[in-house]
Amino acid sequence: MELMTNLDRWREVRRGLSGPLGLVATMGWLHEGHLTLVRRAKAENRVVVVTLFVNPTQFGPGEDLAAYPRDLDRDRRLLEAEGVDFLLAPPVDQVYPPGFQTYVTVTALSRNLEGAARPGHFQGVATVVAKLFHLTRPDRAYFGQKDGQQAAVIRRMALDLDFPLEVVVCPTVREADGLAMSSRNMYLSVAERQAAPVLHKALRAAAHTLFPSAAGSGGVTAETLRDVVRQTVAEQPLARLEYVSVAWLDSLEEADGPALTPDSPPLMISLAARLGQTRLIDNILLGVG
Ligand code: PAF
Repeated sequence: MELMTNLDRWREVRRGLSGPLGLVATMGWLHEGHLTLVRRAKAENRVVVVTLFVNPTQFGPGEDLAAYPRDLDRDRRLLEAEGVDFLLAPPVDQVYPPGFQTYVTVTALSRNLEGAARPGHFQGVATVVAKLFHLTRPDRAYFGQKDGQQAAVIRRMALDLDFPLEVVVCPTVREADGLAMSSRNMYLSVAERQAAPVLHKALRAAAHTLFPSAAGSGGVTAETLRDVVRQTVAEQPLARLEYVSVAWLDSLEEADGPALTPDSPPLMISLAARLGQTRLIDNILLGVG
């Protein structure tokens, strides 16, 4: 694997590469969730590029940019073991040169959920991902469903801006107790880590409410499903729910209105919660595939 930190040098190397190229964009501090994306990219492409860039424009004031965990040597070893071809880790001033002022905004899909909680976040994500797409020119780009709104925003951006690539969204990778893998899990205390699986438990409880009860009863409302999540999370005193959403997967608008049934269009139930200082997100898809 070649580590590349200079974008001019990378552009030269990219011109010489042929065959399908798979991109896995990361902010480092890799875990099994990232490595699952890398393995899928390896299986489906001739060349695999992983980018490692802690993107300042997607962090709001007071968020954890400075404290975001970084360990290039560790990440490098993990990627080498997976047979990645290139690790692209440019410095901030090459990605955002002095005078930078051009941003990508995916309007409606960025508005709710994480977009409402973290103003400007998805503009930062869409901008850097558009830049990474230009820099690496992938045939396929791999993202995790754990960041469900991010996946929707990137998919829309790729379509709207005519990026000639496939956005591949891979299932969330979970610990044995259901906790979605995330670089932020490392901030949890022992007690918070023990409490954290309640988030997935709450999402599953809501999904189970939709399926059995809807069959013979004319369905359940989105608000009933939100209540199931609220009540389940409330059982765990260390977890504080920030929001719960039951939204149509295609628009991420709340699915209020007629009762939901297992035959409703695809839905995403998602939440954000704090355990101590650590903010975690998770989601579950219903009616997909
Ligand atoms: O999911 C992430 O790690 C980041 O949001 C991404 C897609 C690498 C953009 O900085």
